[in-house]
Amino acid sequence: MSPRARTALIAGNWKMHTTQATARDLARAVADIAAAPGVADAVDVLVAPPFTALAAVADVARGTPVRVAAQDMHWADTGAFTGEVSPVMVAELATHVILGHSERRHGFGETDGDVNRKAHAALAHGLVPIVCVGETLAERDAGKTDAVVARQVDAALEGAAPDEAGRAVVAYEPVWAIGTGRACDPAEAGRVMRLIRQRVAAAFGAPAADAVRLVYGGSVTPDNAAAYFADPDIDGALVGGASLKADAFGAIIRAAAVAPGAPAPAGARKEQPT
Ligand code: PGA
Repeated sequence: MSPRARTALIAGNWKMHTTQATARDLARAVADIAAAPGVADAVDVLVAPPFTALAAVADVARGTPVRVAAQDMHWADTGAFTGEVSPVMVAELATHVILGHSERRHGFGETDGDVNRKAHAALAHGLVPIVCVGETLAERDAGKTDAVVARQVDAALEGAAPDEAGRAVVAYEPVWAIGTGRACDPAEAGRVMRLIRQRVAAAFGAPAADAVRLVYGGSVTPDNAAAYFADPDIDGALVGGASLKADAFGAIIRAAAVAPGAPAPAGARKEQPT
């Protein structure tokens, strides 16, 4: 079995859940799971708390394998934008930022142009953008899935340098699968991932397409996670509801660690000193 081309990424999107205290507890539990033998070297683990808990979670995560993401941000460094948070502020506490989540696009009117400005701002501040794309049910039923996803991917990364595109993460999250318990068929998710990788290859070249991590999101659970990670083009998951319970999130992380093609546990690697 050849090793995975890219390290798996399992990200928990806590949305508008947790207080500072419950966020700290959850982050501690996730850190223990992420540091476990066989997990730490196979899976990158990321949590995205609400802004009010970012500092608390960043404190807990320091010195652990857990990375911290913001759930959104503005593109400007500073300014008169009441209620917004800037990339400078986010970069003090986080390494990643989720951009263009469907709840932002469809609940708060975020456009492809907004997502592009935010992606550029993230990259300029050394943050990894996790760009969310995905079709609504009406778009899927109308046969527009591929066109919508291609448009969103192209628009989000437009103007980026190839190495920047390669550093990004794209989350394919069909809107109808988010929080509904109606997860996308893994074979269909894999098909869309290959479409996304082709778009990145066409715009930025093969090295960027090989490097960019593509994760699936939408009702991922411990029961269905392994089916996604078996696909070599699905590099992990963006998990909402199941990321709020350490046990469930831990089971998803472990499924990625043992997925076909994941690196062998350190002790079993030939090149590893004994
Ligand atoms: P879900 O959310 O896992 O609760 O469906 C996924 C997401 O919104 O990122």
